[in-house]
Amino acid sequence: MRRRAQEGTPRRVSEAEDIPGLAARAAALEVLTAALQRRGGLDEGLGHPALHALPPRDRAFARALAMATLRHLGPIDAALQARLKKPPPERIVNVLRLGAAQLLVLKTPPHAAVGATVDLAAAQKGGLPFKGLVNAVLRGLSREPPPLDDPALAAPAWLAARWRSAYGPAEADAIVGMIFAEPATDVTPRAPGDADLAAALEAEVLPGGTLRAGLKGEISTWPGFGEGRWWVQDAAAAIPARLLAVTPEETALDLCAAPGGKTLQLAAGGAKVTAVDRSDARLRRVSENLARTGLAAETVAADAAEWRDGRTFDAVLLDAPCSATGTFRRHPDVLWVASPADIAKLCAVQARLLDSAARRVKPGGRLVYCVCSLEPEEGEGQVTAFLARNAAFALDPVAAGEGGSPEASLRPDATLRILPHHRPGGLDGFYIARLKKTA
Ligand SMILES: C[S@@+](CC[C@H](N)C(=O)[O-])C[C@H]1O[C@@H](n2cnc3c(N)ncnc32)[C@H](O)[C@@H]1O
Repeated sequence: MRRRAQEGTPRRVSEAEDIPGLAARAAALEVLTAALQRRGGLDEGLGHPALHALPPRDRAFARALAMATLRHLGPIDAALQARLKKPPPERIVNVLRLGAAQLLVLKTPPHAAVGATVDLAAAQKGGLPFKGLVNAVLRGLSREPPPLDDPALAAPAWLAARWRSAYGPAEADAIVGMIFAEPATDVTPRAPGDADLAAALEAEVLPGGTLRAGLKGEISTWPGFGEGRWWVQDAAAAIPARLLAVTPEETALDLCAAPGGKTLQLAAGGAKVTAVDRSDARLRRVSENLARTGLAAETVAADAAEWRDGRTFDAVLLDAPCSATGTFRRHPDVLWVASPADIAKLCAVQARLLDSAARRVKPGGRLVYCVCSLEPEEGEGQVTAFLARNAAFALDPVAAGEGGSPEASLRPDATLRILPHHRPGGLDGFYIARLKKTA
């Protein structure tokens, strides 16, 4: 039987599950809160038990709501700030953000969006006193909806300024122009050129062989998933492993490998692959992906900078941890949790990992370094500094269009700087360099 909270008694989130619609919004609140708390928080939030306890339709709504909120966070916050004299506690701000996204992005009917969001506020610890405020702010937004497409508000000002200084105003505007758009799902087929699969997924075949699926909804129900005929991988993320062009006689090392998209590509290419990641939990996802796709690789849980086992490899791939600002289409949270201090810290880690990766390359072998960051010091800067301190390595030039790379991404030094607008429909921002060990 349903229990209604007594007048004046704060309802706990656990009780919210009894009220239709509220449980989904409570789950969206958990996802949003985790996403804005720390780097990588969105992935943790999307694994939250509150989300997984929901029936599939409510789960899809909760996910869509959290993602719509994050994707439009800049304009939503500007609209809320204009209506709040004094900011309420962060939890209530997040409730308001979700309410605004329902009204302004998902176009939920105002009575449902306002009513459910007021209930969600009341269900928070200490939330009851904010019911009136939430009601008034959301009714105001519903009466006079602010525009949500102002590019000047799409990204934090400091990041937009960085992109302007790195790429110039026109490119920076084009990058920012990709922030509000929902990305398609890209997948890599296990067998390159699997035409039946492309048809079954109603996919566009992109240069390099990535399939841009036309299907929507729960991907584990799509054709070929159970048989491991494909894995989800952004079109840009599939390029680094292609540039290694491994052959079945070769050994390959994938450093910072989890969840394993690039490991799967190298294994599908026939190489004898070793995949290293320092996170046991994330490495388990590599093993699951290998099992599902019927591919083989050795997995090692270790810090790639410390790992010592004496072997060297024909092909080494380092997909270094980074600010991930290039992934904002799928992870809009990265825009709001990145910070200059974080970028500086990551740069130090990347340099150490690059030196370590270099020690594992056989003479004559090749090394691909990549980051899904738009920040030049994590990409171009790392490789320039690495070459200055490692005389045994030289750039191995990437050809125009190689590996399915957009021609616009080819830099004068024949490394790749992929920007999110370099393909119609978008792709992740990446920096990719291929190096060869000459001595
Ligand atoms: C960008 S993700 C890698 C994505 C992966 N290459 C793929 O294609 O699926 C970065 C990974 O680096 C791992 N990582 C971070 N620092 C590491 C280190 N020092 N040694 C090994 N792995 C590390 C993280 O656990 C995370 O799984």
